[in-house]
Amino acid sequence: MPSTGPVKVGIIGSQFQADIHAASMRMLPEQIDIVAVASPTPGNARELADRYSIPHAFTDYMDIVRHPEIEMVTITTPNSLHAEIAIALAKAGKHVVVEKPMCVTLAEADAMIAACREHGVLLMYAEELFFTPKYVQAKKMADNGAFGKVHLVKQSEKHFGPHSDWFWDAQRSGGGALLDLGCHGIAFAYWFLGRPAITSIYTQLGTYVHGDKTTCDDEALTILEFEGGSLGLIENSWARRGGMDDRVEVFGEGGLTLANLHMGNALPTYSEYGYGYAVEKAPTTTGWTWPVFEELWNYGFPQEMAHFARCVRGKDLPQATGEDGRIVLEAIYAGYASAGQGRKIQLPYTPSPNVVRPIDEWHTRRS
Ligand SMILES: NC(=O)c1ccc[n+]([C@@H]2O[C@H](COP(=O)([O-])OP(=O)(O)OC[C@H]3O[C@@H](n4cnc5c(N)ncnc54)[C@H](O)[C@@H]3O)[C@@H](O)[C@H]2O)c1
Repeated sequence: MPSTGPVKVGIIGSQFQADIHAASMRMLPEQIDIVAVASPTPGNARELADRYSIPHAFTDYMDIVRHPEIEMVTITTPNSLHAEIAIALAKAGKHVVVEKPMCVTLAEADAMIAACREHGVLLMYAEELFFTPKYVQAKKMADNGAFGKVHLVKQSEKHFGPHSDWFWDAQRSGGGALLDLGCHGIAFAYWFLGRPAITSIYTQLGTYVHGDKTTCDDEALTILEFEGGSLGLIENSWARRGGMDDRVEVFGEGGLTLANLHMGNALPTYSEYGYGYAVEKAPTTTGWTWPVFEELWNYGFPQEMAHFARCVRGKDLPQATGEDGRIVLEAIYAGYASAGQGRKIQLPYTPSPNVVRPIDEWHTRRS
């Protein structure tokens, strides 16, 4: 494989997040060359390939695994497939970028880490909040002492629920809002504070709005304690009307900063007639809306993809690894255990013996 030039990339999956990866990578022609996409539904991979001028479209992801040119592959499939795909890629010597959450179980996380280590490939955990310009600015100020000692980091991510059926099926997703969105907030607070160990978690959650279609939680409130005494407060919802809401608040003894990801980057807009697109998951473009501009850049996706390419070329060390993804997943198991048992749970946490998926910690214990 070449050690210079654009990194040759494959994408597995062809829908929501695959489109984001492809669009972001296409902004980086000097760093990334997308060679192939694979997705099982006939025609879907081809559509993505045509949209982004990707030479090859496959229905079997093993065609990407076996492709001799491809150096790095991004996994944008349902959570329950992350582990088997990552392990197959590692065995074939491909560097792995895995979307959040890293996988469904801790055993899968361990197997992914071991396979990538054994076969000498990078396992990069795709947490774009580490690249979101507004949030990176907040961390830079905190690291430069702007707020003194930071004792509280709040992160919240909310919308009215995911776009694909598998998210709502606890068997395939592994959990609801806490898993799907809380993985961002937990990773964020941990990273923001400089990666201190998470010592405890308390989560209150439930299914408040979407009980007709899911047993997953659609509202989750989580408090984390970190070694050294700082707190994380993570709010997640699949029951929040009005499109995506993503924000951060940081409090220290000497100051604070507030970052609303979408509002500061939007144009307060009123339209009787509507227009093409406002923001992720917004249900309408009529009346008052807040269309964003440069949405991918504001999230940090192109910056994240550029970072992964630099890692493959040995110019950067991964911002987030399989070990980080595993730490987040362990906290999520403990969060569901907290909700199931109605108490604060200490970490490190070993899942209960009768539990497979994170959400089982709640389902098997709730009264
Ligand atoms: N970082 C983020 O902000 C973010 C946002 C959305 C989704 N995600 C993550 O990305 C992943 C995908 O989510 P999505 O929203 O794109 O889901 P999606 O339902 O829109 O797309 C899933 C894709 O996986 C494909 N797929 C299913 N089985 C497959 C198989 N055996 N081989 C290859 N492809 C297969 C589907 O055909 C589809 O193309 C999830 O893990 C999700 O949590 C991350």
